[in-house]
Amino acid sequence: MNVEQIKKIAVMGAGDMGHGIVQTALMNGYKVAMRDIEQRFVDKGVQGIKDSLERFFVAKGKITAEQRDEMLNRLETTVSIEDAVKDADFVIEAVPEVMDIKKSVFKDLDKFAPADAVLATNTSNMSITEIAKATNRPEKVVGMHFFNPAVRMKLVEVTKGEKTSEETMQVTYDLAKNIGKAPVRVEKDSPSFIYNRVNAPVMLLLELILEKKIVSPEEFDGAFKAVMPMAPYELVDFVGVDIACDSLKYLHDKLSPEYSSTAFEQIVNAGTLGKKTGKGFYDWSAGRPTIDTSKATKEFGLNDLIALQVNEATKVLDEGVAKSPADIDNAIVNGGGGFGPFQLAKGIGYAELTKRCEALAQRFNVEVFKPTDTMKEGKIQV
Ligand code: 3HC
Repeated sequence: MNVEQIKKIAVMGAGDMGHGIVQTALMNGYKVAMRDIEQRFVDKGVQGIKDSLERFFVAKGKITAEQRDEMLNRLETTVSIEDAVKDADFVIEAVPEVMDIKKSVFKDLDKFAPADAVLATNTSNMSITEIAKATNRPEKVVGMHFFNPAVRMKLVEVTKGEKTSEETMQVTYDLAKNIGKAPVRVEKDSPSFIYNRVNAPVMLLLELILEKKIVSPEEFDGAFKAVMPMAPYELVDFVGVDIACDSLKYLHDKLSPEYSSTAFEQIVNAGTLGKKTGKGFYDWSAGRPTIDTSKATKEFGLNDLIALQVNEATKVLDEGVAKSPADIDNAIVNGGGGFGPFQLAKGIGYAELTKRCEALAQRFNVEVFKPTDTMKEGKIQV
């Protein structure tokens, strides 16, 4: 299959990521079917698309009301997997990050989607190879990971499972380009792929700061608010504390037992999941929270976060997950904004970043933070 043959896309899941992906495909000319398990979730997804089209595009004069209506006319909605995928050329799954749910959905997709349809998963962390085992077409199963908000963020990670064919990788890469994204190939099916893996030690740091009650989320975020599109705990709220917690649990099981999640779990159990529930680390009921920068901690600085990112990026490179340092930098820039880790390392110097990693590893007694040999050698150029 080549990308010109894709006329209709089906998206499983109408949550934040699902409806964001649907909107992106609609805005780039595709017919799209959106499916969720209950009508109320479907309706919420449709409302999310309508609100976003209005607020970020029609109200800003980026599209006309007629263009919006034409886009919405290409949208079909349903609670039936069979109806959604029976004539789809390409399917993107964006259901909860639970392997059993993913596998059950993929089993149905394999049963009901046309034999030549590609089945892609938007999983943030999980093994593509494992998900593909639920189907009889593992060569057509691929990772296609979008970033939140999906309409805005450019990165799409296209991940090769053990049996994913080169044709499937290429058509997925080309589709991502056709819908206005900046895809990056993930060459090895490894937990959390590139972007989330590079940020994984930062997530662990956020968890450990909560566990040890070192500083409050607002004190921590105050130190970063001015230099990042979103401060670290604010970003967790934005993405969903539950999503971050699932990710830490997966990393604990698949990458290192040092990835704990007890503090995040407590917040999830309290039902305060961040922006989507109106409250997480911050109150979101009136929009983006105000972070009081006068409370900013001096205990942690930007170079600590960059050091952890650069160090993990060297692992991503050494393990062959990404093809090149430039691919890693592009992923980070297009997934969340800001600068690529290797670009930053060039300016700051590997010696300084290595020292920071050593200090953090010692302070928290965590191997994950220890500088790699590649980090210490400091030879990676972009
Ligand atoms: N959809 C479309 N466009 C949006 C948008 C949305 N939901 N939210 C904001 N925008 C657009 C606005 O229209 C505006 O566009 P313009 O400059 O062309 O007018 C621009 O973004 C800036 O918006 P605002 O000034 O209204 O708001 P902010 O400056 O607060 O930006 C943000 C909002 C774009 C979300 C910015 O805060 C940001 O980039 N945050 C970081 C997001 C991030 O890191 N995402 C990755 C998370 S990790 C992840 O998703 C992995 C997964 O596995 C969980």
